[in-house]
Amino acid sequence: MKTSNKSKKENISSNTDKLKRQIDKLKEERERLYALLNITKNLSAEINLEKLLIKIMEEVRKILNADRCTVFLYDENTNELWSKVAIGLDDEIRFQADKGIAGHVWKTGEVVNIPDAYKDTRFNPEIDKKTGYKTKSILTMPLLNLYNDVIGVFQVLNKKSGSFTRHNENLLSAISVIAASAIENAILNEEQKKSFTSFIETLSTTLDTRDYITAGHSRRVTLYALEIARIMKFDQEQMEIIRIAGLLHDIGKIGVPEVVLFKDRKLSEDEYEIIKRHANLTKSILNKIHFLKKYRAIPEIAASHHERIDGKGYPEGLNGDNIPLGGKILAVADVFDALTSRKPYQDRMGLDEVMEIIEKDTGIAFEPFVVYNFKFIRLNKLILVLEYGHTEEMDKDELKILESHTLSDIIDIRTKAGKSASELEVENVFMRYYLREYRVK
Ligand SMILES: [Fe+2]
Repeated sequence: MKTSNKSKKENISSNTDKLKRQIDKLKEERERLYALLNITKNLSAEINLEKLLIKIMEEVRKILNADRCTVFLYDENTNELWSKVAIGLDDEIRFQADKGIAGHVWKTGEVVNIPDAYKDTRFNPEIDKKTGYKTKSILTMPLLNLYNDVIGVFQVLNKKSGSFTRHNENLLSAISVIAASAIENAILNEEQKKSFTSFIETLSTTLDTRDYITAGHSRRVTLYALEIARIMKFDQEQMEIIRIAGLLHDIGKIGVPEVVLFKDRKLSEDEYEIIKRHANLTKSILNKIHFLKKYRAIPEIAASHHERIDGKGYPEGLNGDNIPLGGKILAVADVFDALTSRKPYQDRMGLDEVMEIIEKDTGIAFEPFVVYNFKFIRLNKLILVLEYGHTEEMDKDELKILESHTLSDIIDIRTKAGKSASELEVENVFMRYYLREYRVK
């Protein structure tokens, strides 16, 4: 009877242990699912690679209760593993892809889970030396995509209590698939962006190269327009619209015969009509590009850079509010560059005369609010665009002097009777660059 009771008790105790273990396992499983769900939700919307990497590292650090997490990606151009930003570090980390534990994991695809890094010969203490950090426990795992390709390495450092468990390994392995797919998505997105940007830049350079008289015009107009947009507090998306519309505003000139485009004498009325066609051509060429929905206004903005607010511009003869704001900005940037750019046969027009022409047409051709904002452009930025392509010869200290004044200031200073010493210095520095004499080669 006694023995039977003991055996019953043992049975109950063993069942209780089993149940406890099952409950712990269920808890771990619930924790794992919750973490995966959370990380999927947080990562899926992020397509900016840098922001995504930071998010992944921060999430994993929290979930694994560790001090630091780094995602290393492989750079096939340099055969290095690199991390853009590591939590707690400012700089980019880079090292040869066969170095250290991360390198070992990259090469072999093995998981390395060690409680004391300094007792492992594969550990590379160089980064610790550089940063003053003390690595203790490490969990390093290959970052595998859905096709089981290793695209990088996950490295989690210094578990806050004890060392990394098998449960941590399983969790990180599941996160790795989600993270790898989000990273590949973000990389693809960046590649697409780069490819689109290079396509736009190539089109613009093609145009600027053909037109040797106004070489660099599209680039300078874009830079002026972006400065105006920045002063007018445009957001990033609006700035990108201005940038693309600026680079391609004259793309229609491709369809204008060279004999008319490069004529250095006064144009006949018919020839002028042919030149004017470029605005409409810009629109029809740009309408052939498939822009993302957020950039759909670009053809219209680019094509409206010769519209005037009095309705006497072209191609549509739009007036006032009917002209897109981007077009009004490009119009001011366009005329400023046309008047101030150096030509093979002539130096740039004097600043006072340029500003007189613009002022005279403000409220007639140009939107007053745009001209008003344009005059807030800092002189260092203005001269850098005016002298685009010759900026390497500029003195940094002199640019610093110009930074504290605007275009509006220099117009005032030039007409002022009693100038202060600092005003005189600004005027001298700016005008010396403005009037530099050399011919476009
Ligand atoms: Fe134009």
